[in-house]
Amino acid sequence: TGTVTFDPGFMNTAATTSAITYIDGDAGILRYRGYPIEQLAKHSSFLETSYLLIYGNLPTPAELDSFDQRIRRHTLLHEDLKGFFGGFPRDAHPMPVLSSAVSALSTFYQDSLDPFDEEQVELSTVRLMAKLPVIAAYAHKKSIGQPMLYPDNSMNLVENFMRLSFGLPAEPYELDPKLVKALDLLLILHADHEQNCSTSTVRLVGSSNANMFASISAGISALFGPLHGGANEAVLNMLRDIQSTGMAPEDFMEKVKNKEDGVKLMGFGHRVYKNYDPRAKIVKATAHEILADLGGNDELLDIAMRLEEKALADDYFIERKLYPNVDFYTGLIYKAMGFPEKMFTVLFAIGRLPGWIAQWREMMQDPQTKIGRPRQLYTGLPERNYPER
Ligand code: CMC
Repeated sequence: TGTVTFDPGFMNTAATTSAITYIDGDAGILRYRGYPIEQLAKHSSFLETSYLLIYGNLPTPAELDSFDQRIRRHTLLHEDLKGFFGGFPRDAHPMPVLSSAVSALSTFYQDSLDPFDEEQVELSTVRLMAKLPVIAAYAHKKSIGQPMLYPDNSMNLVENFMRLSFGLPAEPYELDPKLVKALDLLLILHADHEQNCSTSTVRLVGSSNANMFASISAGISALFGPLHGGANEAVLNMLRDIQSTGMAPEDFMEKVKNKEDGVKLMGFGHRVYKNYDPRAKIVKATAHEILADLGGNDELLDIAMRLEEKALADDYFIERKLYPNVDFYTGLIYKAMGFPEKMFTVLFAIGRLPGWIAQWREMMQDPQTKIGRPRQLYTGLPERNYPER
């Protein structure tokens, strides 16, 4: 009621208070529950960081072990849910497969849908953490025509995901610790980012008291877009195009600056960071190391680095405060790990899951929460009469 403020894209509107993630976009600072991202990247694991985001504090070793064990116990998908994967076209993008399967979880696990029952919320938290990587790996396997393996609960979440994505039933799968560590780091960097498009979507859907599976399925759909999580796939496609056409990075930059055909430098710019994205700094620092280990495509990395170098020295990018974001280098690493481009945004979703869960839970417990219902400024016709015929 009263004055309606016009704020397209919510540039200046805080829709919630939150105690989870702190960002200072001008200073390039990101902290989860007070801990700087650089420290978590160095010392923590994805599982521990997930616990931190969801429950508010770092776990004791016993708490971490119990969280880990609970997740391991819930990795199996209902056999009927597995049938879903055969219902999509072979060339389906795994993101809509992921959002559909997560939405379907609320039909298979009807005993954990009440957003206000602590035990049920706990159960759906653990179910989602355990099953999302399995669903993701199955979407991948289906798309390449390989059989879906059963999870092996002697492995943790990230290890299991690697095995389910790359293992075959006919031979034992040997985990590569370097690969597991690299993926674990990337998942930590994606784990939360306060009120971004997908998280705001999770909150908006959840504000109607929709269950956690339904809310997070909507978040996955929001993440799919190329301006959000889809950017990591778009960056690789952009680098490939530049490589295959033999275009000089300088010429590509001219196209971007002239806004030719709406071409953007994908992986650059951010709504909040007007200084270097601290996550991109960590990824860039490790990209060389990881790519050297995994045998990544140096030529694409070279193109990426040349584009970055040019952009950072160019008035167009300087004036607009456009810096590389987390997605600029991640695709090259995912590719070197053996994931096809279509899986990149799925990996982002696995990483972002604990953040979505934490934000949804925080909202459900917050007495200030009201159903999300933005206002509008009507620009249509004034009243007119239906013609008499
Ligand atoms: N390449 C070229 N120009 C750009 C870019 C870019 N990547 N990003 C922004 N600009 C320009 C934009 O055209 C505008 O110029 P002008 O003032 O002349 O109209 C100006 O910079 C401000 O940009 P904006 O689009 O108004 O900024 P925004 O805050 O609405 O959008 C963004 C943020 C991330 C959507 C945008 O920077 C973008 O489209 N980047 C490319 C896609 C991308 O990498 N997305 C991943 C974001 S990080 C991961 C995640 O959390 O999802």
